[in-house]
Amino acid sequence: MRIRLVKGDITRQHADAIVNAANSSLMGGGGVDGAIHRRGGPAILEECRKLRASRYGKGLPTGQAVATTAGELPARWVIHTVGPVYSATEDRSELLASCYRESLRVAGDLGAESVVFPAISTGIYRWPMESAAEIAVRALRATASGVADVRIVLFSPEAYAVFDRVVSGDENIVAGLAAHPAERWRHLFTLVDQLTPADREVPWGGGQETRPGVTQMPYPIYSQRFLEVVRLLGELDVVVPFDWGAWSKASPYFPEGRGLAEAPVADAARLATAYVRGERFTDGALEYALENGAMQAILDRLRRWFADEHPGR
Ligand code: APR
Repeated sequence: MRIRLVKGDITRQHADAIVNAANSSLMGGGGVDGAIHRRGGPAILEECRKLRASRYGKGLPTGQAVATTAGELPARWVIHTVGPVYSATEDRSELLASCYRESLRVAGDLGAESVVFPAISTGIYRWPMESAAEIAVRALRATASGVADVRIVLFSPEAYAVFDRVVSGDENIVAGLAAHPAERWRHLFTLVDQLTPADREVPWGGGQETRPGVTQMPYPIYSQRFLEVVRLLGELDVVVPFDWGAWSKASPYFPEGRGLAEAPVADAARLATAYVRGERFTDGALEYALENGAMQAILDRLRRWFADEHPGR
């Protein structure tokens, strides 16, 4: 899914659906909520009241989404969703991701062809912008939807810059992968298919006393075939320049590659980078990736990307 970023006021956006960063009461508030109700007029609040008197007697739960008229706004619907308040102690990422997924689902059910999101939870609910951007972009990209035009409207240049780094980071990575001809990718997957169990078992050398009191450091002995695969990952721009240390600490895909099959292929590149670069700092990082399944998850995700998306496949 292509995500476009726009700087400005969400209430000025022309789209089928505008997503509101609401609260559970659906009775309005400040920020985006206030702007939407102010510019959209009383018809929106009227419908919110009806929702509260019927389906949502106790309020709209966090992470869920519901549509109303857009009133005077240049849109057909407002999709109200309730973001989680940021917590430094409790991980509420799934609730924030759900806001994007559920809003997209509601938009699809309505037949909306264009949807505009704000940066949910990053204002009054205090969610750090970078983390919110990663969660938003990952959730939108992982959600199959018929909505063709998905925009995120950022209210400040700083917010725009953060989202742009996240969105274009992925797009740059994918552009780098696609720039390599299909036969280079086929060569990689042929080599991967030729890897034997022995290639995946890593013996260690060293450890013997070379001189009294001096023991040679142990080191992993990777097979030539496996090293050729790692070399190709570098040549095919799967290994990318980014802060893989910080990413590894925050990413749900590190260390075992759990969930990578459903993630953007850029995250497979990021995980590969964390291990290939990590080997320079810690002998055996790549052995760990072979053991814990991360390397297999990375190669499987790259193979699916190639089969589904490489222009020359
Ligand atoms: N257009 C686009 N973005 C906007 C606008 C606007 N008119 N106004 C604010 N923003 C930005 C904020 O700068 C922030 O980055 O939208 C993001 C979300 O901020 P909030 O609107 O404060 O939403 P949120 O953090 O999710 O808090 C929701 O605030 O307004 C109340 O009733 C709402 O209780 C709920 C809470």
